[in-house]
Amino acid sequence: MEKKPTNGDSRHKLLDRALSRHQGRPEALIEVLHTAQDVFGYIPRDVLAYIAAALDIPKSRVFGVASYYPLFSLTPPASHTLTVCMGTACYVNGAAALLEEAKRACGCADGDEITEVRAAHCLGSCGRGPLLKVDQRTVVDADRDAVRREVAAFEEHSHDD
Ligand code: FES
Repeated sequence: MEKKPTNGDSRHKLLDRALSRHQGRPEALIEVLHTAQDVFGYIPRDVLAYIAAALDIPKSRVFGVASYYPLFSLTPPASHTLTVCMGTACYVNGAAALLEEAKRACGCADGDEITEVRAAHCLGSCGRGPLLKVDQRTVVDADRDAVRREVAAFEEHSHDD
């Protein structure tokens, strides 16, 4: 079994919970990768190796799947991340407009590396959507104005440095 990347980290507990929920079934790879992406903000190489060992899948296949789907990132996130939940419940409440606004607003920022815009599978609070995740903070019932406020705050802080 691949060594756990970092012990005592609550993110790894969430990953282990997802692995045990799927009882180590290789068919659960995509779901487990979603969990890893959500809890780490990207999928570190050591986590990929850990998942491969836990699901008994070759590392090359896990890497191939993780690098194929644009929802997964194998590199650390930008300074800030805006994640729009595009799960069904959020989608029917206007998440597509939020994602569009986030891309537009971040395109106007001082540099694309300031903010990364992502779409997520489901962030687990379906009744409070559309959900916007601003770095690790969650904004419920988000709208276009909320997106613009968050991006403006990022820009303001980048000028403080
Ligand atoms: S669909 Fe958005 S939180 Fe579940």
